[in-house]
Amino acid sequence: MSLTEARHPSGVPRRQALMHATAALEPPFAVIDLEAFDRNAADLLRRAGGTPVRLASKSVRSRALIERALGAGLQGILAFTLPEALWLAGHGHDDLVVAYPTVDRAALRELAAGPRDRVTIMVDCVEHLELAVAAAREAGGGPIRVCLDVDAGWWPLRGRLKIGARRSPVRTPEHAAQLARAVVAREELQLDGLMSYEAHIAGVGDRPPGKPLMGAAIRAMQRMSARELAGRRAAVVDAVRAVAPLRFVNGGGTGSVERTAAEAAVTEVAAGSGLYGPRLFDSYGSFTPRPAALFALSVVRRPDDHTATLLGGGYPASGAAGTDRLPAPFAPAGLKLDQREGAGEVQTPLRGPGAAELRVGDRVWMRHAKAGELCERFNELHLVRGDEVVDTVPTYRGEGEAFL
Ligand SMILES: Cc1ncc(COP(=O)(O)O)c(C=O)c1O
Repeated sequence: MSLTEARHPSGVPRRQALMHATAALEPPFAVIDLEAFDRNAADLLRRAGGTPVRLASKSVRSRALIERALGAGLQGILAFTLPEALWLAGHGHDDLVVAYPTVDRAALRELAAGPRDRVTIMVDCVEHLELAVAAAREAGGGPIRVCLDVDAGWWPLRGRLKIGARRSPVRTPEHAAQLARAVVAREELQLDGLMSYEAHIAGVGDRPPGKPLMGAAIRAMQRMSARELAGRRAAVVDAVRAVAPLRFVNGGGTGSVERTAAEAAVTEVAAGSGLYGPRLFDSYGSFTPRPAALFALSVVRRPDDHTATLLGGGYPASGAAGTDRLPAPFAPAGLKLDQREGAGEVQTPLRGPGAAELRVGDRVWMRHAKAGELCERFNELHLVRGDEVVDTVPTYRGEGEAFL
């Protein structure tokens, strides 16, 4: 399952230092280990090899840490909803690209009348264009900047097998050029960029622990898909550039930074999860983010000699339900979830050799399976450096914002 403190190659965070830093805090609370966060940011930039890295904000969900990542050298924000992008623009951010299509008419009107030169929306069909045009007309503003989303899936066996997230219907150079012409034909819109996100490469670990055959199959799939995508992405970009210039071509995610950045047609990669280093990113062969985001829970009862039960903990990650979506104990070592109860709404029993050592009142450090979703559970993140909490900053939720 997950890396535990004892096994993690980076050896961070240091449990004793963390315990010292947070001794005055009462669980449940969440921390960000700043040293791990900063090293993860540097590692993403190193892996990109000079290609700009746009920050996927859904994987961070705290303005203070977004600003820290931008300060470290990431450039621009890949937002997850238009209201979020408008809110960030209101806080002074620019170069915001909304990664997913919107049908929010009020937000589109607000964009048209407001920060339209700082926010770009995602489109993949004429309906998206029409909604934006209507908003621009109603608001009397515009043009609205748009980015074309192009499907990055792999369709072997003449399309009988479709691998990849169900995203854009636009796949071919011809279809992309047709949508680009539809944008150019509308004076309320301005073509700004192109994005194609290869979720099945960037978001699927190629070394699943204890499953060598599956790992080999995933690596083969990713290799063949990446080859097909590189050729098609270049052809799509050429076809769209023949219609109108593109300010950026975005691709990739934490799991594919070096591979995507190596494509000449790509001008920037996106990444976010690699900053917090959640559990689902333990199983990649080419990089190992340091676990920077942790949360602490208290042992509140000992039902028997082999079990220590924590208060709370039921913070599963989104996606197809499975045990890989559950949070996992990180420290002390030798703890695992109870198979029947998992991580529960009000209690999480832990088993394993480490459980016998735990006493009522002890605290256990846990990791979320994904990155930004942790922030939907906490109002604050305590920023730890060495053995002190150097700052406490709000999450989006802590600022009263819940975008999805
Ligand atoms: C469009 C898009 N780009 C990039 C990413 C990669 O983000 P991360 O690095 O946080 O996995 C995602 C994640 O879902 C995404 O939806």
